[in-house]
Amino acid sequence: MPHNAQDSLTIHVSLGTRSYPIEVLEGSSSPGNSAFISFIRTSLERSWSGRGCTKALVISDSNVAQIWASSIASQLSATGLEVAVAEVPAGESSKSLAALSSIYDRLMDLKADRHTLIVAVGGGVIGDLAGFAAASFNRGLPLVMIPTSLLAQVDSSVGGKTGINHPRGKNLIGAFHQPIGVWIDINTLTTLPDREFKSGLAEVVKYGVIQDPEFFHFLEINAGLALNRNPSVLKHMVARSCRLKADVVELDELEHTGVRAILNYGHTVAHAMENVAGYGEYLHGEAVAIGMVAEAKLAEKLGWIDPLLTQRLVNLLSCMKLPTSLRPCDIQLLMAAMKHDKKNRSGRVRFVLPRRLGHVELTDEPTDDLILAVLTTIMERPS
Ligand code: NAD
Ligand code: GLY
Repeated sequence: MPHNAQDSLTIHVSLGTRSYPIEVLEGSSSPGNSAFISFIRTSLERSWSGRGCTKALVISDSNVAQIWASSIASQLSATGLEVAVAEVPAGESSKSLAALSSIYDRLMDLKADRHTLIVAVGGGVIGDLAGFAAASFNRGLPLVMIPTSLLAQVDSSVGGKTGINHPRGKNLIGAFHQPIGVWIDINTLTTLPDREFKSGLAEVVKYGVIQDPEFFHFLEINAGLALNRNPSVLKHMVARSCRLKADVVELDELEHTGVRAILNYGHTVAHAMENVAGYGEYLHGEAVAIGMVAEAKLAEKLGWIDPLLTQRLVNLLSCMKLPTSLRPCDIQLLMAAMKHDKKNRSGRVRFVLPRRLGHVELTDEPTDDLILAVLTTIMERPS
């Protein structure tokens, strides 16, 4: 059920000594906001590294720094901390050793110690980069995530995966490092470009398919309001997504048991598409939307789900103005790219496929012929 947009919702991520709260609310970015100040103080107080904190480095990108990060830096100053701001260029290219090195330099300038707080204000790129700086500098600094893109609010700010890219592959250098708190102000989404917003919706739909039929139904009913960024719908959508991701992370924090792999529904095909098309051609969520359709069709062909479920998924994604078919490309290249998926074992491509709405399983059942047939059916005909 949607909540009053003014109330704050708290999600607890239970990970023993690494537990933390996620606060979801609307309109917290006015200077001097007492809820924010108290959130920062209690988050710092809860952790050993936070307790001696006197300084903070806010890390943001060139799009978000002026709109949101500067007011957050002012609010942090009001907590009595010495605050500096580091800005990197917006975009995936900032998940690099060069950008990381520039952050280490800022931390050296600030004479950072093991209690210096890192505050990530931005999308998933900033969360991953700032998170990895926090994981590695002085063997670990306290980290607060303030995600401002929908994708970061529902996915990347939760769960502790941090990292940067290697020129030969995405996310190859990284660490698990849980934040001490996540502060989500859905008001920040008002400035997010439309295409980025829609892209984030794909990950929201994913949670419905993999874990929560009721949530999927809620999205079917509220797709139009979600697309129009209705605050009450957004708050419920973000909070429920965070809860569902936290449920998975609590069961498999370090991705050792395979449970966390369920978050990869739609991603075997999506990663291959991003790889073949070149990063940036499809936004991640756009590739995930198409990937989810392809993988639902695989499940359908294996007799795991009824075609009606695939149709419901296609309808929901279409209502959210997300793509559901592949642009013309070389399918053999896609097949080859899938052979490098991290989930694969013994040379077989593995997929996370739905057995029913709200339940998925990791499988290597689809044969190359079946994958090829499904990809062919969802590809647009060249005009
Ligand atoms: P992003 O950080 O590049 O943000 C997308 C664009 O939106 C950028 O141009 C950014 O400047 C802009 N932006 C963000 N918030 C804004 C706002 N409120 N107003 C105006 N502009 C705003 O990309 P993303 O989609 O947020 O995240 C993608 C990254 O997240 C990828 O690098 C991916 O690997 C990573 N990721 C990590 C995890 C994880 O668990 N750590 C999970 C999923 C994705
Ligand atoms: N985004 C996948 C994960 O956090 O495991």
